[in-house]
Amino acid sequence: MKILGFMGSPRPKGLNAQLIDSALKGAASRGAETRRYDLIKCNINYCRGCFKCVHENHELPVGKCPLKDDMARILAEYSSADGYILTSPVYDVGVTAVMKTFLERKFSLFYRQGGDHGKIPAARVPADFKKKVSFIVTGNCHDEYKESMGGPCFEAMESDFFIEQIDTVDKLFAGGADNMSPEQTAEKVKEAFDLGMRLVDVISSSRNDVSSIAS
Ligand SMILES: Cc1cc2nc3c(=O)[nH]c(=O)nc-3n(C[C@H](O)[C@H](O)[C@H](O)COP(=O)(O)O)c2cc1C
Repeated sequence: MKILGFMGSPRPKGLNAQLIDSALKGAASRGAETRRYDLIKCNINYCRGCFKCVHENHELPVGKCPLKDDMARILAEYSSADGYILTSPVYDVGVTAVMKTFLERKFSLFYRQGGDHGKIPAARVPADFKKKVSFIVTGNCHDEYKESMGGPCFEAMESDFFIEQIDTVDKLFAGGADNMSPEQTAEKVKEAFDLGMRLVDVISSSRNDVSSIAS
């Protein structure tokens, strides 16, 4: 099983980095192959809104984007993965521009027939709920603000995955990010580890359920 982590903080050694490392270790402890992408280090250009990826080549699993950067390679690996962990700090009550730019460029995974204006695009390869995703959001506001600060971030990421028929396992919010005591950090790092383990467990058990119904 392959689990990919996408880290949306511009700080490669901040709290998000610690939490995604721990989550990926949790996934690895359950036997998963893992890889961490630091989105800030990837060459991912802004979507220019040409809609070519969505309207053309419907038979391809990933649409062709005219922009030549790292995204084609990332989406090729993305398509072969079984699960995902995304982390973002709250920036201005939303995900970072780094994460948002990545989410927009996932548009090539969708398609829309010409003339279907005004409809939500469909997944080129629907995951049929066999893949899963978990999210981690950090903010300086404390945990009691999970809904007001984390909510818009979780929603932005989750709705993008729902189009692909990938549902959510966990949403972890880590508040008080820049002023955490070592004990508080250790607690969140442990919660992230558990999130990674649970993601693999839920993917495995949902696939076992499907195969036992089929047999
Ligand atoms: C431009 C900017 C905007 C921010 N906006 C918010 C915010 O709206 N709510 C909040 O709780 N924290 C906000 N923060 C604090 C970040 O969420 C915090 O620094 C981050 O979670 C730390 O994670 P990192 O170490 O992985 O970068 C903001 C920080 C920056 C730099």
